[in-house]
Amino acid sequence: MTCADLVVAGLEELVTSSGPTPRTGPAMREIGLLEKAWIAGRNGKIVFVGREKDFRKEVELTDRAVIIDGAGLVGLPGLVDCHTHLPFAGNRAREFSLRLQGYTYQQLSAMGLGIQTTVQATRAAGREELKQLCRKRLQTMLLNGTTTVEAKSGYGLNLEDEIKQLEVVRELAGEQPVSLVPTFMGAHEVPPEYKAERKAYIKLLINKIMPEVKRRNLAEFFDIFCEPTVFNLEETRELAEAALKLGFKLKVHSDEFVPIGGTELAVELGARSAEHLINITESGIEKLTGSRTAAVLLPGVSFFLMMDKRAPARELLERGAIVALATDFNPGSSHLLSMLLVLQLGVFTLRLTVEEAINACTVNAAYAIDRHQRCGSLEPGKDFDLILCDLPSYLSLAYELGRNPVKTVIKGGRVVVEDSCPVF
Ligand code: NIG
Ligand code: FE
Repeated sequence: MTCADLVVAGLEELVTSSGPTPRTGPAMREIGLLEKAWIAGRNGKIVFVGREKDFRKEVELTDRAVIIDGAGLVGLPGLVDCHTHLPFAGNRAREFSLRLQGYTYQQLSAMGLGIQTTVQATRAAGREELKQLCRKRLQTMLLNGTTTVEAKSGYGLNLEDEIKQLEVVRELAGEQPVSLVPTFMGAHEVPPEYKAERKAYIKLLINKIMPEVKRRNLAEFFDIFCEPTVFNLEETRELAEAALKLGFKLKVHSDEFVPIGGTELAVELGARSAEHLINITESGIEKLTGSRTAAVLLPGVSFFLMMDKRAPARELLERGAIVALATDFNPGSSHLLSMLLVLQLGVFTLRLTVEEAINACTVNAAYAIDRHQRCGSLEPGKDFDLILCDLPSYLSLAYELGRNPVKTVIKGGRVVVEDSCPVF
């Protein structure tokens, strides 16, 4: 007999997303759906997923076991947000209003607004202030069903402030329920004080900041914004190779605006993911096809920047790329925290099916941050990260717009959201 300390009984539907990970091609439409399902866990890990009959045969309860009634609810794996710029201060509402008057994101950046504005605000923010901002954001994410979040630095752009951002992420990882995966993104932009000597900034990153972040073990991934106006292909290669040598895993922001070979380079260097891909070319798609590099698509960006162009999600899927979705939460190009909204944008703007969008927000998102052994699907041995939604069926995750259906969130076997309110 297996022993359980937490059980959710009689869910109308349970989306397990169990099966091969990462998922590609036709397997993207398989979500491991169970009806009238029971799921149980012990000490934070899942021990049983199945029907009541088998539960009665195989599982016994500990003395203090908690049983949650799943009647009328749809369960699914805690959502994984595999690309965010979580730790920043300030906001760019003024810039947003200028965009509504006709300026483009890139024009604003050339005028000294854009990322630079957020760099100023983030450098000026105290550690506690920054932490409090992030704490609130993480709570919103959790209330919307996100239980694992990747968080990038990249608004400090000097040793002290990059470390400040990453330390805030580390401290928060121990203080609130959402799991955090830290990424060092000192190569997000060239800071204003180095604009005239960009080579010196690249040297500073490679010789000083990167090794210090590594020495303090503050980040698992290294990420670069590969764009002709930010870091060109040659600079991206130099930075990426240095990061790999130090033992960072690699991510690349590529083909967001102008394709210069960033996706191809990401695959060549064995990056875990290439992200954005709005303007990916045939050669980029070709390289991703059959590779182990995930295509992380961020539909919030095309939407928020009101671009006509979107990442070619259907083609990527049909050619066999590993497609994941994420918010890209940041103050300039995607100011949104909800993975449920991303799932819906995946369906409505990228033409994914609901099943494909679910897998892109769960198993494949977990793969994109190397957490697929722990989360992203509901199977014995994995973390007990489960969300319960007040919906008639999983299809309504996309069909019902503008309402947060998340009622309960279980993170690591602990109920952290109950009746849509935080209880941690
Ligand atoms: O992923 N592309 C680069 N970085 C962010 C935007 C950051 C900002 O505008 O502050 C992104 O879109
Ligand atoms: Fe980004």
